[in-house]
Amino acid sequence: MVHVNIFDTTLRDGEQSPGVNLNQLEKLEIARQLERFGVDIMEAGFPASSQGDFEAVKAIAQTIKNSSITGLARATKSDIDIAWDALKDAAEPRLHIFLATSPIHMKYKLMKTPEQVVQTAVDMVAYAKQRFPHIEWSAEDASRSDLDFLVQIITKVIDAGATVINLPDTVGYTTPEEYGRMFRYIRENVPNIHKAALSCHCHDDLGMAVANSLAAIENGVTQVEGTINGIGERAGNASLEEIAVALNIRKDKYPFTTNLVLKEIKRTSDLVSRFTGMIVPPNKAVVGKNAFAHESGIHQDGVLKNTLTYEIITPELVGVKSNDLVLGKHSGRHAFKDKIEQMGFTLSPEKLGEAFTAFKQLTDRKKEVTDEDLFTILTDIQTTTIDVKKYELVAFQVQYGSANLPTATVALTTPDGDRVETACTGSGSVEALMNTLESLIKEEIHLTDFRLSSVGQGRDALAEVHVKMTVNGTPVSGRGSAQDVLEASAKSFLNAVNRVFFNQKAAVKEPAL
Ligand code: KIV
Ligand code: ZN
Repeated sequence: MVHVNIFDTTLRDGEQSPGVNLNQLEKLEIARQLERFGVDIMEAGFPASSQGDFEAVKAIAQTIKNSSITGLARATKSDIDIAWDALKDAAEPRLHIFLATSPIHMKYKLMKTPEQVVQTAVDMVAYAKQRFPHIEWSAEDASRSDLDFLVQIITKVIDAGATVINLPDTVGYTTPEEYGRMFRYIRENVPNIHKAALSCHCHDDLGMAVANSLAAIENGVTQVEGTINGIGERAGNASLEEIAVALNIRKDKYPFTTNLVLKEIKRTSDLVSRFTGMIVPPNKAVVGKNAFAHESGIHQDGVLKNTLTYEIITPELVGVKSNDLVLGKHSGRHAFKDKIEQMGFTLSPEKLGEAFTAFKQLTDRKKEVTDEDLFTILTDIQTTTIDVKKYELVAFQVQYGSANLPTATVALTTPDGDRVETACTGSGSVEALMNTLESLIKEEIHLTDFRLSSVGQGRDALAEVHVKMTVNGTPVSGRGSAQDVLEASAKSFLNAVNRVFFNQKAAVKEPAL
């Protein structure tokens, strides 16, 4: 069987999804989980794009030892130098360098002739090779490029030292047959192709990213790129979990192996969804809530007689557990610690103490604490730093009645340590609360999105709120959970505002791709 390397770009292409903005602790948690999931290569970010990305790539390169870490760079010496600084401590540092090759990109975006593009690509790969042992070179917009031009440039960048050639379908335009044919042509016509691995990278604009990736694998590609939950630019990237499960379930058609641990899929998907605020649609393949639900009577009857009648993927395969072991009021610290370790969390002694207190507070209000509740509490505790100056909620009160003007009173401590309080009205209780918070915060805030959902089921379920806003013109997202909808709203608002203080992305210098 042929082995296919899995290249995850959730933290780079995925983080380019509109409105997504992860802080360094969230990126590190996702990186640890991707390592557990068994990805071979992890694209941790685009180091030259911002100080925040640089720091996150560096921290991930220093932490993760079982996956190779890479970072994206444009074809410039300064991008390559910055990437080296961020990646040099990685177990196996790798550079991902790209340059567009389609006529439209070369003429209008790069404003270079094809000859200049070849020269730049060759020069920059040779420059990077002085430091990086592994270099992936991507022909951006390859699927709309001239095949013979691709043959020419690929031959030269391999001679210059590229070890992986990635041919992205940057705009999600190609079809499975066409994409597969492109790889076959390259394999048959690039004389030195045996010195490099071929990689595919698909976007989902026409809903064909996974099908295109599988077609590429069938045509000799030994590295597949994608993101968890298919997040990414515009309609997103190919979903890695869908590719992984397709390769597993249809081994008869796809005789390929990967290093992925499929039972980590659910946790990986949950973590990415929670941190990015990109909720997984219920009907999403493999990880959607309804992926294993059988609603129609005929289907239920069939499944009861033999699960194989309608179930091609078992929930256990992807780590969906049917029965959560619930903890309650009487569970002690030991049971709690065991439980959270089983759930894949490793917390420092202080964070463990903080988590246990939060758990005990929840058991006072909620009879049974489920895995979903714990996951929410623990991911919050894991990704907030205590040592950063920020706005903190001291107390709030909201008055609402159908005949009164909704009014909220809020007290906060500011990053300078002052206590401030005020009251404002709004057309509803959430708006009154948001107006009050906004008036207490010095930064200029525009709230652009507000989403409320419940964590799990039951009338005592935790409320979770995701918000998007701009803070001093920088787009940020925030999340908050609590038993009360208004408290979750206030927390999500402050979580977004506080990102400005510990997310250096506030100083973004967004590159033109
Ligand atoms: O889609 C694309 O072309 C990319 C490149 C930077 C590899 O993400
Ligand atoms: Zn991409």
